[in-house]
Amino acid sequence: MDKKYWENKYKDGETHWNIGYVSTPLKEYADSLEDKTIKVLIPGAGNAYEAEYLHSLGFNNVYVLEISSPAIENFKKRVPDFPAEHIIEGDFFTHTGKYDLILEQTFFCAIERKRRKEYAVKMRDLLNEGGKLAGLLFGHEFGKDEPPFGGTKEEYESIFSEYFIIDEMEVARNSIKPREGRELFFELTRR
Ligand SMILES: C[S@@+](CC[C@H](N)C(=O)[O-])C[C@H]1O[C@@H](n2cnc3c(N)ncnc32)[C@H](O)[C@@H]1O
Repeated sequence: MDKKYWENKYKDGETHWNIGYVSTPLKEYADSLEDKTIKVLIPGAGNAYEAEYLHSLGFNNVYVLEISSPAIENFKKRVPDFPAEHIIEGDFFTHTGKYDLILEQTFFCAIERKRRKEYAVKMRDLLNEGGKLAGLLFGHEFGKDEPPFGGTKEEYESIFSEYFIIDEMEVARNSIKPREGRELFFELTRR
């Protein structure tokens, strides 16, 4: 599941995860944020509807990080006024920087299970003191040996609690219809 694997998904049009608009839980979360100057990262952003939405609200410090070149090109075409220097083609695991908020939307489920702890450590390292990681995680298993990889609240708590204070991790009350009851909304604060 390297760069090539993901790029082929875009080239072959196998982007079944793509909602086509900002997910309702992340839209409402974005609407609740008061400080529009915070530095936000969206890793594994795909078509990056969340970044587009934050941009439309006037957030001017939002970064898109994505390993797949076709996804980056799609985003640049769709949102031409998004600052080019905030669109990063690269690997999350080698990315460096410091952010106030990182948004998770079907990126964790795309990562191999054996890298979950590495994901948590990397997220912690990419956040400023008191920074937040927030978003959605699938709350069930898919039973497949390719993405999406699911999990349980207990498993996620055990992965993240060493590095984050878990402010919230509950079944989302505002999911899009096909994901209703199947995803957890979470907000974590960097320890
Ligand atoms: C399941 S898709 C989700 C895309 C988007 N977040 C969405 O919800 O539509 C996972 C995305 O993560 C990207 N990706 C996978 N591994 C990555 C990595 N190591 N660094 C950055 N992006 C990665 C893939 O190219 C793909 O666009």
